[in-house]
Amino acid sequence: MAIIMDGNGRWAKEHGLSRVEGHKEGAKRVKDVMDAARECGVKYVTLYAFSSENWSRPKAEVSALMKLLEHSLKSYAKDFLKNKIRFRTIGDISKLPEKTVTLIEKLKEETKDFNEHCLVLALNYGSRDELLRAVSKIARDAKQGIFSPEHIGWDDVSEYLDTADIPDPDLMVRTSGEMRISNYLLLQSAYAELYFTQVNWPDFGRDEFMRAIGDFERRERRYGLTGEQIK
Ligand code: FPP
Repeated sequence: MAIIMDGNGRWAKEHGLSRVEGHKEGAKRVKDVMDAARECGVKYVTLYAFSSENWSRPKAEVSALMKLLEHSLKSYAKDFLKNKIRFRTIGDISKLPEKTVTLIEKLKEETKDFNEHCLVLALNYGSRDELLRAVSKIARDAKQGIFSPEHIGWDDVSEYLDTADIPDPDLMVRTSGEMRISNYLLLQSAYAELYFTQVNWPDFGRDEFMRAIGDFERRERRYGLTGEQIK
């Protein structure tokens, strides 16, 4: 499952709180969602925590989000180790504060052998940025003769994406009533089912997670075939 965690700001406004308080409440839902994912056997959860476009938000909000990320990683660590959750990231993390990168690398290393459940945080991630970085590496390798440009297939290209060995999402969820994908896993979600809910991210707990799963279970996935062909 991939999730666009939207609506922290609106949730905060509704509760008479600052936007940062909304993000703080949102960060708490990550644990709830991982508990629900383990409960119903969802192996991969990929969360859009910070997009490559989010740097343009007010400086104070960006810096509060970075601080929150650092604090959250420290607080999630115990949970990941206890529940055997592998931690991974997608996106160009080299642009994050050095302290945060160190924490990320440490948590990745400590959890790298867990294979039951995985939390993937999209950090400084955007599909177009991911594609540009991939194309640049593909061009370099083609020039070096590592593969021949005539024989390149989708499997080869997907190996250059940040999600190289992460399965494509079956379900893409966006909270807060917005109905767009916002540069998130554009190639990987080619066949994902889309689920939009009015609920703001800080209110997206276990029940909302189960509701999304229930909705997904009723979908007929056709992958370009006819309804009769897949029966
Ligand atoms: C969108 O809400 C949310 C974000 C841009 C950041 C997501 C971050 C969190 C949920 C908290 C931190 C998470 C981790 C994993 C540490 P918005 O600000 O766009 O809300 P609005 O559209 O109502 O203003």
